[in-house]
Amino acid sequence: MKGGEKTAVIDTVDPSKTEVLLSQLAGVERIDYIISQHSEQDHSGSIPHVLERYREAVVVTSPKGREYLIDLLHIAGERIVTVADGETLLLGDKTLEFLHTPWVHWPETFTTYLREDKVLFTCDLLGSHLASSTLTIDEHWKACEAAKRYYAEVMMPFRTSIRKHMERFSRYAVEVIAPSHGPVHDHVDCIIESHMEWISDRVANTVVIPYASMHGSTERMVDHLTEGLIQRGVKVERFNLAHADTGKLAMALVDAATIVVGSPTVLTGAHPLVISAAFLANALRPKLKFASVIGSYGWGGKMVEQIASTISNLKVEMIEPVMVKGRPREEDFKKLDGLADQIARRHRANNIA
Ligand code: FEO
Repeated sequence: MKGGEKTAVIDTVDPSKTEVLLSQLAGVERIDYIISQHSEQDHSGSIPHVLERYREAVVVTSPKGREYLIDLLHIAGERIVTVADGETLLLGDKTLEFLHTPWVHWPETFTTYLREDKVLFTCDLLGSHLASSTLTIDEHWKACEAAKRYYAEVMMPFRTSIRKHMERFSRYAVEVIAPSHGPVHDHVDCIIESHMEWISDRVANTVVIPYASMHGSTERMVDHLTEGLIQRGVKVERFNLAHADTGKLAMALVDAATIVVGSPTVLTGAHPLVISAAFLANALRPKLKFASVIGSYGWGGKMVEQIASTISNLKVEMIEPVMVKGRPREEDFKKLDGLADQIARRHRANNIA
């Protein structure tokens, strides 16, 4: 960013891409400020190299960011200046305003607002893992789809912090959103409105079923439950974990009301793929309201207890699991119908449509 008097770079790149960054900066004779919005190395890792090339440059960061840059990258403290929340930096005819936005997803992250051009540089927040040939892309749905995956995988546990920051952003005139990942958004409505929906308390009339099956019993149960839920007007997103894309599973969890975990019993517990998916759901803390477990066993085990303890972060009401010895019988399918009934009834009672 070139102002009338000073030049600033907002964030750098991962160390593996240092040469690319330095070649992009080849025509830039002077850099006064490196704005380090976030100390994780995909943004900060090349700062030492930029500082080495531009001897006059100083790093501008938050007080906590300063600590991290010294600890993680061994940057000399005398080359770092800190800015408080709301502080501004003049580049001549351009003004940068710094808005501290902690916990999206580290404690030190901040956002930079370029007043004159109404650009909000949001770092990780509102980002996406989407590479494009141009700075902005015309297919806004594609950008929002990629942003949903990014939100699901990185930001979902920080929904409450994001809500607070979005509320603050709404008081600024923003014409362009420039995250440090993915394309720049010059039509901001799609990216803002999508995030407002994802961070809201609203959930969709959807059941997510991540499952594994070894000999087909659990899969038959999942098939039956899927059919039963659809017949009752509930949408289903099922993921056979043997070949599922876990990013898509995370996306499905962004707004689903219910999760039903399906697993065979391996030794005394759940299938390892199921434990892994349950661990992921627990870490991402989606806004699920209800959970249950279905599955099969040969001679015994404590699979239900194990899954329940693995998802203990989730603030869900557990609905009676359906466990079957061996291949499911007629009475087991009736129990699955009962589970579908209970889920549909709870969704209706909570106005989840
Ligand atoms: Fe938190 Fe893009 O790094």
